[in-house]
Amino acid sequence: MRRRWMAAVAVSVAGLLTLSACGGGDKQESGGGQAARKVEVFSWWTGPGEADGLKAMREIFAKQNPNFEFFDAAVAGGSGDQARALLSSKLQANQPPDTFQGHAGAELQGYIKSGKLESLNFLYDELKLKEVFPQQLIDQISVQGQVYSVPVNIHRSNVLWFNPSVLKKAGIDGAPKTVEEFITDLDKVKKSGKIPLSIGSQWTLVHLLESVLLGSLGTDAYNALWTANADWSNANVTKALENFKTILSYAGSPQDDWQPAAKQVADGEAAFNIMGDWAYGYFHNPPEGGLGKESHKDFDWAASPGTDGTFMWLSDSFTLPKGAPNRDGAIAWLKVAASKEGQDAFNPLKGSIPARKDADQSLYKDYLSWDLEQWASDKLAGSIQHGVVANDQWRQAITDAVGLFQQDNDVAKFQQALVAAAKNSGQ
Ligand code: GAL
Repeated sequence: MRRRWMAAVAVSVAGLLTLSACGGGDKQESGGGQAARKVEVFSWWTGPGEADGLKAMREIFAKQNPNFEFFDAAVAGGSGDQARALLSSKLQANQPPDTFQGHAGAELQGYIKSGKLESLNFLYDELKLKEVFPQQLIDQISVQGQVYSVPVNIHRSNVLWFNPSVLKKAGIDGAPKTVEEFITDLDKVKKSGKIPLSIGSQWTLVHLLESVLLGSLGTDAYNALWTANADWSNANVTKALENFKTILSYAGSPQDDWQPAAKQVADGEAAFNIMGDWAYGYFHNPPEGGLGKESHKDFDWAASPGTDGTFMWLSDSFTLPKGAPNRDGAIAWLKVAASKEGQDAFNPLKGSIPARKDADQSLYKDYLSWDLEQWASDKLAGSIQHGVVANDQWRQAITDAVGLFQQDNDVAKFQQALVAAAKNSGQ
């Protein structure tokens, strides 16, 4: 088990983190005339599907902490691309929020190594958290025996979402199992007149790339890309990038973010979308937060092509930045995020499974029960876009390479840029 995780992650350095802001320490008069101190919680969960889980945890926080007022400092934009940039400047300016969302793995290691976070060993001891989180996950959020965040969930990145009716009309019998089958099916959908593959803003292409690399290279070769002196220049990587090029040639017009791209599948305009399982929350949650769609009818899912038996994971966690204006309030939030009650309220709506081992499994139904099973039995690989295998600097270089590739479609140049990104990652 330990080896599974170690293979899936690259322990990193880095951390361009930095910056700023917010007014988490403000005092406010609450109804009873007592001062309720704001707790500024920084995340990027603002959009449909994303916000539902946060709201559920926030309600528990409010009930348990009448002396604190939750202040939602979320910055819109899927995968936190905008949020992470703002956070970086805030941390650099030593103006941290009281607590912020960070991905377990290389991304968090960056925050730790740049000295931005307080150790949470005191909280792990007080709440006996080492007993409830998998040791391998704790390893991803620790440096030299100090633990630096509280993981709230496990998300799966490599999911192929599809519309069963659109597939049927295109003469496709079930989800494609390999990358080659996927390409054949994309072509069939194109001929049927629908959008073969929906995509969103630029980060969703990096998300797509990680699934195509995993599906084309296989798990061991994918995991090897994140180890020291990895060979990004070999012919198998070239083939994987050729696959990416072919798959992208079937993409519809880029939508503003992941939700409108996923919606094209739910609405029957597009056949496929490769996205993390936060899409499940969006498809399935009742209208207001979600689309209220029915699984296996309006939408369905499978492992992304070529990745069956491997769980490409990521985990959202919350931190205690050094200099948090309302440190006590942040700790109160971390206690809710760490609790069984908090995780079991948050995850069924977020479309993720709990990080805690003792959660109430009966709450995780439909897609989420499949997810729990896969998590228990699959091999592991770490996500690029969502902070597991590559630090921020490396991820940014990959994002830039994907952006250029979108314009010139030159696989050789793309591969050279990825080779350089690995070499200069500082990881
Ligand atoms: C990921 C994050 C998820 C989800 C997703 C889409 O990076 O870990 O919780 O929010 O972005 O925004």
